[in-house]
Amino acid sequence: MTTTQTPMLEIRDIKRDYRVPQGMFKDDKIVHAVKGVSFKLDKGETLAIVGESGCGKSTLARILTFIDEPTAGELLIDGQKVDTRPGHLTADMRQKVQIVFQNPYGSLNPRQKIGDVLGEPLLINTKMSAAERRERATEMLVKVGLGPEHYNRYPHMFSGGQRQRIAIARALMLNPKLLVLDEPVSALDLSVQAQVLNLLADLQEEFGLTYVFISHDLSVVRYIADEVMVMYYGEAVEYGTRDAVFSDPQHEYTRTLFAATPRADVESIRARMAKRRLATAAG
Ligand SMILES: Nc1ncnc2c1ncn2[C@@H]1O[C@H](COP(=O)(O)OP(=O)(O)O)[C@@H](O)[C@H]1O
Ligand SMILES: [Mg+2]
Repeated sequence: MTTTQTPMLEIRDIKRDYRVPQGMFKDDKIVHAVKGVSFKLDKGETLAIVGESGCGKSTLARILTFIDEPTAGELLIDGQKVDTRPGHLTADMRQKVQIVFQNPYGSLNPRQKIGDVLGEPLLINTKMSAAERRERATEMLVKVGLGPEHYNRYPHMFSGGQRQRIAIARALMLNPKLLVLDEPVSALDLSVQAQVLNLLADLQEEFGLTYVFISHDLSVVRYIADEVMVMYYGEAVEYGTRDAVFSDPQHEYTRTLFAATPRADVESIRARMAKRRLATAAG
């Protein structure tokens, strides 16, 4: 949150309304999914966005990754204002920001070999040879803790954690600056969650990535975040450094949310991650 450098990501008063038809004889209902959210995020930092189901997290994620357009507000990537209107987004801008979803199985083509899944984004570079694409995909498999032997396998041959590694690898193929992770470990077993979180931490360091990490799990947030934003019914009710938010929450809702999270969860996930770090360092 320092002001000396250009933030990797800045949003100003972003709003998103949805019009929901109520049938022939009733007026459409307007859902205010995001009601004016602002933040700045420096390069290499992680902002965690937390809140209960339906509070607008995924809507914000889609706006940050240009999948959806805001109803109002501004979006700046690396100091550059983004023209979010359809057809106005530059290829360069698109390349800078990638998203990882909770359930990567849904976004993987069951008939496509993993190597081709990873090589596909590289097709935008028409000068790149098939051999080079193959090499780059194999390198990335190794970086996310898989191996060259996985290149010719299909999505159904992987576990949930491995599939999430594949989704992360795919998101990184075009060297993005910003990764938006929408509940990336929520569908995984606790021990696998720890592995994927450690992988994300390592990749962030290696590539200098900036993360927006969406979660409803406070123990995960506590581990991964530099800054925390708590959303409640489309609004950011709390925003600050992790330590400030966790030690001195300002909003009643945040206090309720924290009270509902058993302390033991936080400790157990931390212990598990520390154990794995030691194992990795030793081996
Ligand atoms: N495409 C859509 N059309 C209508 N309403 C939507 C749409 N997407 C999300 N919403 C509504 O916006 C609100 C926020 O949803 P969402 O961003 O998915 O929340 P979260 O990810 O925090 O669970 C919810 O009330 C949801 O029903
Ligand atoms: Mg969601």
